[in-house]
Amino acid sequence: MDRRDRLIARVREGFRHAYGAEPTDFFAAPGRVNLIGEHVDYNDGFVLPCAIDRETIVALGPPGDAACFEAVALDMGEADARDSFDPAAPITLGASDWQNHVRGVVGALARHGHRVEPARIAIAGDVPIGAGLSSSAAFGVAVALAMSEHSGLGLDAATLARVAQIAENDFVGCACGIMDQMASAASVEGHALLLDCRSLETVPVPIHPGLEVTVIDTGIRRSLTESAFNQRRAECEAVAAHFGVRALRDLDPAAFAEGESDLDPVLRARARHVLGELRRVEPVAAALAGGDTAALAALLHEAHVSLSQDFDVSLPAIDRLAASVRAALGQRGGVRLTGAGFGGCLVAVARCEARGAIEAGIACYNETAAIPASAETFAPVAGAARIAAS
Ligand code: GLA
Repeated sequence: MDRRDRLIARVREGFRHAYGAEPTDFFAAPGRVNLIGEHVDYNDGFVLPCAIDRETIVALGPPGDAACFEAVALDMGEADARDSFDPAAPITLGASDWQNHVRGVVGALARHGHRVEPARIAIAGDVPIGAGLSSSAAFGVAVALAMSEHSGLGLDAATLARVAQIAENDFVGCACGIMDQMASAASVEGHALLLDCRSLETVPVPIHPGLEVTVIDTGIRRSLTESAFNQRRAECEAVAAHFGVRALRDLDPAAFAEGESDLDPVLRARARHVLGELRRVEPVAAALAGGDTAALAALLHEAHVSLSQDFDVSLPAIDRLAASVRAALGQRGGVRLTGAGFGGCLVAVARCEARGAIEAGIACYNETAAIPASAETFAPVAGAARIAAS
């Protein structure tokens, strides 16, 4: 049995156990790792994530007698692992984040003028939670797709992503951008996804066959992410307002250079990261497709330093791990912090033969680390879809 089959068996069993009935349909949405363009999605910039073969699966079946919407989450502990509400009534908040992801999708669909039909769902996944690999987006997009298909809405990938983002922004309370949901909804197998976060236009970027994407889990789980994340976003918006532009994407670097001395030093550093990161996205996309590992080494290092020093979302242990892997890799690839930060994962894009070097860099770090790091290489997969389950 492969990874997905095991997950399907678990979610099917969870459905049977919760409702005493068989599910009729299955939907899946992947997590993602971001290769470049960090903390630029909510500044309307370009990003380059890649969907990974870890996912959330939703099993769906007809409603019970009460004709309400019922959900059971198999990974969320016992206490409030079930929820039930009337999808036609105004949506109120649930008792926990996962419930608000589900309710939020119904609420967001209602705002788009769509009605969700009653159903029963069970949800399970294997995207690690709190690791910076977008378990929340996978969850939201899988639920949105299941509701869209079940209710005959046939929504496209960008609408599913928007709906899942609205659920997270307005019902869960995280001011996240659109990158994770778009990566989960719209990715193309074997490719990274170059995404314009303003227009939502996407261009699949092939990954050179000599390269592979490795996720290095620091083992450090994020804490206080929501408040720190929302604060970073507010700081970026304050700089945009200061310069009178819609978003930092529209801030001309020359105008920034001229006016930056009027800014508070923290705001100046945040904007410096965003403007620098915006310039790195296209060259990284080109290096990824062309297999230029020396360019990847330089650009990903610059990005890491900028996230650590100017955006202040790294930790000393993460900087040590990145330095150790970077030293071991040399010019064979690049490595940097990925995702929101404050813990989570590094991403390495390197020659396939350099896997041993990445392991050596991690082993060296682990000799003195409080929490050991570990690496896994992922295949870039396609975005959310209905899946067959025999
Ligand atoms: C989180 C958010 C995204 C994005 C990244 C940082 O994953 O959900 O919208 O802002 O952080 O790039």
